[in-house]
Amino acid sequence: MARRAAGQLIKRVLMVPPEHFTVEYSINPWMGGTVDKAKAHQQWNDLKKAIEKEGVQVSTLSQTKGLPDQVFVCNSGLVLGDRVYLSRFRHKERTGEQAHYLQWFKENGFKPIGEDYGEYFEGGGDAVFSDYKTLWAGYGARSSKGVYDSVKSLGDFEVVICDLIDPKFYHLDTCFAPVDETTALWYPPAFSENTKKEILRRLPHSIAVSQEEATAFVCNAITIRNTVISPIGVSTATRAALKARGFGVTEVDMSEFMKSGGACQCLILRL
Ligand code: ARG
Repeated sequence: MARRAAGQLIKRVLMVPPEHFTVEYSINPWMGGTVDKAKAHQQWNDLKKAIEKEGVQVSTLSQTKGLPDQVFVCNSGLVLGDRVYLSRFRHKERTGEQAHYLQWFKENGFKPIGEDYGEYFEGGGDAVFSDYKTLWAGYGARSSKGVYDSVKSLGDFEVVICDLIDPKFYHLDTCFAPVDETTALWYPPAFSENTKKEILRRLPHSIAVSQEEATAFVCNAITIRNTVISPIGVSTATRAALKARGFGVTEVDMSEFMKSGGACQCLILRL
């Protein structure tokens, strides 16, 4: 029996409204520019609406002042059922977020693990299930490779280690998005030869995006039911390839969040 794609089964996500979102430091190659606050709110609300339209419940957590990147809540941990493996951020600019996430998880009935574990782990930014038996596990600029020996304790699944080799694609979700049980949207130059082979072996219908699309953060997409929610910039070829697999595309303008190196997928945590 075909395994159901994890994305198609998303029921609930967590989001953090951009109350205090700014770009005031630089910890990835995309960060810079001035955020238009009104526009950021509009774009965040548009994304929330697009997600709700697919029947997904959106829970929210308020942003803490002085933690401008907290909007990228996908980095808070990795959730499976009622358990969460907590993040440990590589950059000191973001470590202050950890306590707020831990509190939210506890108050909302999630059992946290990984709290005392020393290695870096940036949650859903680097780790994503394509189905609940397969975890795609990126490392390089942010999460450390060794952390996945411990992340395994979250449940019963296989871990596919992904070597990220291009500093521009510093989190797995900047260059890889599972779409269904045999398909991902991905940007091949961001990966080592071994990882490229592994992606094509396990997800043979994967759709490679162009450099232009990758730079528009097209891989920072969320698939819910039969819709791929992505930032603006999906090419005609990618659209056709997705259509052939039964998926439509909803584009949401993410210009303000891209000034911080994030877009659709970075703004949600899958619960
Ligand atoms: N400015 C944030 C950082 O560098 C962006 C995080 C984007 N999140 C993601 N999952 N790619 O940490």
